[in-house]
Amino acid sequence: MSIDVRPFQPFDLPGMYRVCLLTGDSGGDATALYHDPDLLGHVFAGPYAAADPGLTFVAADAYGVLGYVVATADSAGFEKWREDHWNGLLRLRHPESMAADPGDGSRDWQRVAQLHAGPSDSDPLYESHPAHLHIDILPRGQGAGLGRRLMSALLAALRSRGVPGLHLGVGSGNPGARAFYLALGFTEAERRDWGSVMVMDLRGGGRDGSVQ
Ligand SMILES: CC(C)(COP(=O)(O)OP(=O)(O)OC[C@H]1O[C@@H](n2cnc3c(N)ncnc32)[C@H](O)[C@@H]1OP(=O)(O)O)[C@@H](O)C(=O)NCCC(=O)NCCS
Repeated sequence: MSIDVRPFQPFDLPGMYRVCLLTGDSGGDATALYHDPDLLGHVFAGPYAAADPGLTFVAADAYGVLGYVVATADSAGFEKWREDHWNGLLRLRHPESMAADPGDGSRDWQRVAQLHAGPSDSDPLYESHPAHLHIDILPRGQGAGLGRRLMSALLAALRSRGVPGLHLGVGSGNPGARAFYLALGFTEAERRDWGSVMVMDLRGGGRDGSVQ
């Protein structure tokens, strides 16, 4: 069955949320960790597609969405947009009282805390690498070059806008994703307690400027 990699359409959102949940535990299925199956998508997928749909690409076949990449070209601007048009509204539905650990192993409270956290401080990295992304593919689509195809589509879109560079975070519990980013030409910029910040320079060609 052929798999298309194409620009996002609004009807892709439910499938994207499903993929986000099924890959949301360091690449593994997070379904058992959430009472609300939409919370992960609300944090890591939905706001990007809503804020700048031209930087979301999906991989889909006749059985639905099996992967996506979402991004912003301007992380500082995105933080402000998300506060004004997304998180602020979602806080009405997910009150801050839900941001406390109920002690049952669920993780809804962590995502609700993110919704209430307010915009993060601007990072010096935003100057040189203002774009950032999230990519997720279902197990049935992994290892067949779809990640590379999604990233190629995103990088072309970012380059056409003249974006100088992009960054992302990868958790230390997800060595497969780290290997994927290294294979595509990302380099590690910083180690944090939760994992690594990786960057790619989009100016010029060569190893740092193209998907290998
Ligand atoms: C990480 C992910 C996006 C990679 O996508 P993919 O379609 O499986 O990767 P591709 O088939 O396009 O592989 C591209 C390159 O990355 C390498 N790569 C991909 N996954 C890898 C892994 N687990 N270990 C080592 N290398 C890997 C491939 O070997 C390939 O390199 P090559 O072409 O030089 O041989 C995908 O596996 C995924 O969505 N995982 C679950 C969700 C996740 O972890 N998202 C990232 C959160 S930070």
